[in-house]
Amino acid sequence: MKIINPQTLGEFIIEKQSEFQYSSGELSRLLSAIKLASKVVNQEVNKAGLVDIIGAMGNKNVQGEEQQKLDVFANEVFIAALNNREVVCGIASEENKDFIEVKAGKNANESKYVVLIDPLDGSSNIDVNVNVGTIFSIYRRVTSEGTPVELKDFLQPGNKQVAAGYVVYGSSTMIVYTTGYGVNGFTLDPALGVYYLSHPDIKIPEKGNIYSINEGNYIKFPLGIKKYIKYCQEEEGERPYTSRYIGSLVADFHRNMLKGGIYLYPSYSHAPKGKLRLLYECNPMAFLAEQAGGSASDGFTRILDLNPIELHQRSPFICGSKEMVIKVEEFMKNANE
Ligand code: AHG
Ligand code: MN
Ligand code: MN
Repeated sequence: MKIINPQTLGEFIIEKQSEFQYSSGELSRLLSAIKLASKVVNQEVNKAGLVDIIGAMGNKNVQGEEQQKLDVFANEVFIAALNNREVVCGIASEENKDFIEVKAGKNANESKYVVLIDPLDGSSNIDVNVNVGTIFSIYRRVTSEGTPVELKDFLQPGNKQVAAGYVVYGSSTMIVYTTGYGVNGFTLDPALGVYYLSHPDIKIPEKGNIYSINEGNYIKFPLGIKKYIKYCQEEEGERPYTSRYIGSLVADFHRNMLKGGIYLYPSYSHAPKGKLRLLYECNPMAFLAEQAGGSASDGFTRILDLNPIELHQRSPFICGSKEMVIKVEEFMKNANE
């Protein structure tokens, strides 16, 4: 029998800690807290199909607590994991109106990191057994350590991210993350509850033949996007491209990153900034895309260079294989002239 000994996520985090100059191990502890929370959420996502059956018995779980909506549950789990370990000084979540100042514990606001999360991405897919995810983004605070966090600690451009990643709760559950030195993916062994390095140094193919967009909104899209969709469908060279749209950004992005492709959530007539949130969705995915050799744009500007002005700001989002993103930008520019 061949003995395989893959590296675990825990080992990988510790090994990579030395890549950071003057590292105090704080980021490693933060990533470990995310790893732990993701396993708790994974357990609950796996049971999602049972909720109605359990609900019929009184809607209580084993601790006697009311069953919660999964996105509320995921939000609480991630916030609790980050709070309890005192690894961040502030948390902003797509599910909370305001950011949370981490006060508990004597060292709380001495931490130098803030985390922004989309605790459950693709929530409309939960009850149909389709992949959902978690997205996270980590920054160093700009205000002084030891003082309460402020809004400006969270409103930093994406190019200041220290780390970002996602969890995809799928046919296998994976964590994919970057600390600015490439992108690595880890697959959960559900029997052992251990993540193993399964996708080292992920690179997005420069070109792809998959496009992912909610074409139901076609009529409302800007002209440049409409023309790009028609371009994808033309019979010419490697086209027509294949259309794949799950409706969970994490899952669509993950597939495109491994196979090559482009994800588009453009502006449309009723939503001039599109739907996706710059801080919880676009920035972390853009950081990952670039670290894997891909690209991310709002159609005109690099996502990571946008200056956020509010926590829940939205942005058009076009992301994936570099050559494909460049092509969309060309269409947008030409349509605007
Ligand atoms: P969330 O579940 O966190 O609100 O995010 C849903 C997002 C994203 O995951 C997905 O790609 C997109 O919404 C789908 O939107 P449409 O249904 O409008 O296509
Ligand atoms: Mn989301
Ligand atoms: Mn969400």
